[in-house]
Amino acid sequence: MKRPVYVIVGAGQAGANAAAELRRQGFAGRVLLVGDEAHPPYERPPLSKDVLLRPQETRCAVHPDRFYDDQDIELKLGVAGAVPDAGARTLTLGDGETIAYDKLLIATGARARRLPLLDALGPNVHTLRTLDDARQLAGELQPGRRIVLVGAGVIGLELASSAVDLGAQVTVIEATPAAMGRCAPPLLGAFLCDVHRGRGVTLRFGAGIASAVREQGEQDEIVLTLEDGTRIAGDAVIYGIGVEPDTALAQAAGLAIDNGVVIDAQCRTSDPHIYAAGDVASRFDAASGRHQRRETWENAQQQGIAAARAMLGLAPEPESAPWFWTDQCGLNVQFVGDMAAPEWIVRGELAAPPCVLFGLDGEGALVGAVTVNLGREMRSARELVERRARLARDVLLDPQQPLRALAKAASAPQPGSALDCAAA
Ligand code: FAD
Ligand code: APR
Repeated sequence: MKRPVYVIVGAGQAGANAAAELRRQGFAGRVLLVGDEAHPPYERPPLSKDVLLRPQETRCAVHPDRFYDDQDIELKLGVAGAVPDAGARTLTLGDGETIAYDKLLIATGARARRLPLLDALGPNVHTLRTLDDARQLAGELQPGRRIVLVGAGVIGLELASSAVDLGAQVTVIEATPAAMGRCAPPLLGAFLCDVHRGRGVTLRFGAGIASAVREQGEQDEIVLTLEDGTRIAGDAVIYGIGVEPDTALAQAAGLAIDNGVVIDAQCRTSDPHIYAAGDVASRFDAASGRHQRRETWENAQQQGIAAARAMLGLAPEPESAPWFWTDQCGLNVQFVGDMAAPEWIVRGELAAPPCVLFGLDGEGALVGAVTVNLGREMRSARELVERRARLARDVLLDPQQPLRALAKAASAPQPGSALDCAAA
């Protein structure tokens, strides 16, 4: 009997985990993992951190090199999945080979959003998405070099931290009034900015770039002029202004697209033989009424596994509240749940971590949490968020009340306990 062929396009976090899960579940057919980068699948979080700070000691491979041979996973690197024919269920690769698939997983991730104004300047202008990007921009982060970072999001602030650690002088330019506005509550963004300022970073908010030129004076430099006329000169510019899902292959396959490849809870797309997972995939979110993508390591991990299970006809595992982290300026910050919660309160002092931030909805239910240098509390915070616990504020804010005990109580609420006292 012919072995079924499962093809995964995109050899990143989601793709590599999906391949591993297929084998873990005993799938005996062919598994092809096709990636257009030259490197075996690797994790991206270290790219803005340890890959720059400790390049010799840092390993970021998703699996050990031998894993793919050991698991009989055919890893095709440096080759793009190029032309799908969803009707015929074939995929032609960039090297001309055509593969007939039984099931196809699209795990093509996202690419850095481009600013043509900056790209046109040529050398010393960088974005950061890949290992090759990280290795290229590492050369810029040297003592005394003036680095202009455009975008005060996750990438901009993590790079600001690494650049200062490496002795560079850093200016950050952000178009909106706040840092990390996409994924963090405003008070946390403001706190992180204070920490960066304390390390010598200059931050400019509400600052659109009006023009960018390379000037040859006493020294070759890049000059950005902001919309308010301010001129900012630097030796290099690195920009992180968000990502765009890489939907080219999915579009060519005729799949439904809405802010990414539209999937359901089991990573199924609009084609019954095609699945999608990771940064490229978007799911309908009832709360916002929109299709949302999660651009996080954990989501790539979990959706890769969920897609593999669905391809095998297995039931999905229970879902958890979205979680991610950032490391910057010696702070480990972990986030769970809804970062757009309307109200945030702090257990401890934000200016003097460790501390926990709690996000409450309009009815006082706990819908989000952030730990700052207190990762050991995240598990309990997550449980409370997943249960939308309603705790008395004095209990929530009292560091003497261990979150673990509160989470345990939340799983078996007693009448009259603190859990029923949202209005207190
Ligand atoms: P990707 O990792 O983007 O992998 C997709 C792969 O598919 C890529 O190799 C791409 O080149 C390839 N591809 C695309 N099209 C094709 C094609 N047609 N054919 C073949 N291959 C193709 N998340 C956190 O939670 N915490 C962090 O601290 C954090 N830090 C980060 C730091 C950086 C610098 C970056 C870039 C990301 C960070 N993230 C972090 C986000 C996290 O890394 C991503 O959410 C995750 O990598 C998404 O995985 P993915 O497999 O969906 O996509
Ligand atoms: N000029 C200045 N700032 C800009 C501009 C611009 N033209 N356009 C966008 N920005 C700002 C946004 O307002 C936002 O604050 O850039 C920031 C981008 O932040 P993120 O959305 O967090 O994106 P980025 O930092 O690029 O991170 C990209 O890497 O770490 C992962 O999960 C993360 O998927 C995300 C990816």
